[in-house]
Amino acid sequence: FSLKPYNTFGVEANAKYFIEVHSIEELKDALKFSNAQSLPLLFLGGGSNILLTKDFDGLAIKLNLKGITENQSGENTILVTAQSGENWHELVMYTLEKNYGGLENLSLIPGNVGTSPMQNIGAYGTEIKDVFVNCKVLNLETLEVEVFDIEKCRFGYRDSIFKQEGKGKYVILEVTFKLTKENHIIKTEYGAIKSELEKLGIENPTIQDVSKAVINIRQSKLPDPKVTGNAGSFFKNPTIPLAQFEELKDKFENIQGYPNGEFVKVPAGWLIEQCSWKGKQIENVASHPLQSLVIINATGNATGKEIFDFSTKIIHSVNEKFGIELEREVNII
Ligand code: EPU
Repeated sequence: FSLKPYNTFGVEANAKYFIEVHSIEELKDALKFSNAQSLPLLFLGGGSNILLTKDFDGLAIKLNLKGITENQSGENTILVTAQSGENWHELVMYTLEKNYGGLENLSLIPGNVGTSPMQNIGAYGTEIKDVFVNCKVLNLETLEVEVFDIEKCRFGYRDSIFKQEGKGKYVILEVTFKLTKENHIIKTEYGAIKSELEKLGIENPTIQDVSKAVINIRQSKLPDPKVTGNAGSFFKNPTIPLAQFEELKDKFENIQGYPNGEFVKVPAGWLIEQCSWKGKQIENVASHPLQSLVIINATGNATGKEIFDFSTKIIHSVNEKFGIELEREVNII
């Protein structure tokens, strides 16, 4: 079964078995089948954060649970619960139409609701942990439904329990967010948003204006996966000790960094660009000409292996020049 339509890189890879599930019952049936046959499992959400490097000799399960519900919660807040198969951006648009605030900075992030807690998706000054209440998960061992609140999820930068100890143990079924109904908190500290709003001539932005600004920024420099295969940022922005940053600053005076206690977060896109990878293409794979942190399937014919090898070359270059080891953000299968 071809997984090409189910990964935003658009690479070819086959799964031995494939099933699309629309409910917990269907999911449980699929799991019983895989248990009986001792098949490895691959869960597919929006397919926007995976790189398939070979065929998958197991059962691929496409999670397609749908639905959005609301619950009142205090005077100014509302709880919005979305099933894992809902498209992330469509959820954001739904909340903005109702004038609920909190998700606007996360407009146009590819992928589905169900994978949003896994890597604590974030952009333009917001992460989902800022509005997250809890998520319902299916425990793959017990087949019981459990609720993970914000503490239990242990969110970090592009990180959560689901990428650490919980890896491969749970499937996220639905996520609940706490949003504002009025007195919205407008987050425009991120430089790019500020300048985009200025360009639009907006002085007192609404949440809808912030969303518009984010959409404009993303469309201006991030490739649309429907047109050019990609999985957004391929690497995480590395965090290095302050002392190492100071040393690098002596050698590379333009190096940027966001200090965080004894550590500094350095933009990986800058490091990659300094190693002359920006826009560079090797056969079917390239670093995006407008944002070097994004690796693209430039011709549409790239294999997962080719993309993986390209990323290894970037890691080597950056390590050689800066002594920093980039970590892949995309899940390698
Ligand atoms: N930069 C360069 N060259 C490049 C790209 C970036 O020098 O080719 C510099 C920029 O000039 C800027 C800095 O790096 O000063 C940061 O760039 P940008 O604002 O584009 O953000 P980023 O750190 O590269 C992160 C997220 C993105 C998210 C943006 C906006 C990670 C791994 N990536 O990118 O998330 O949209 O911030 O908040 O944290 C994703 O995860 O798929 C993703 C796109």
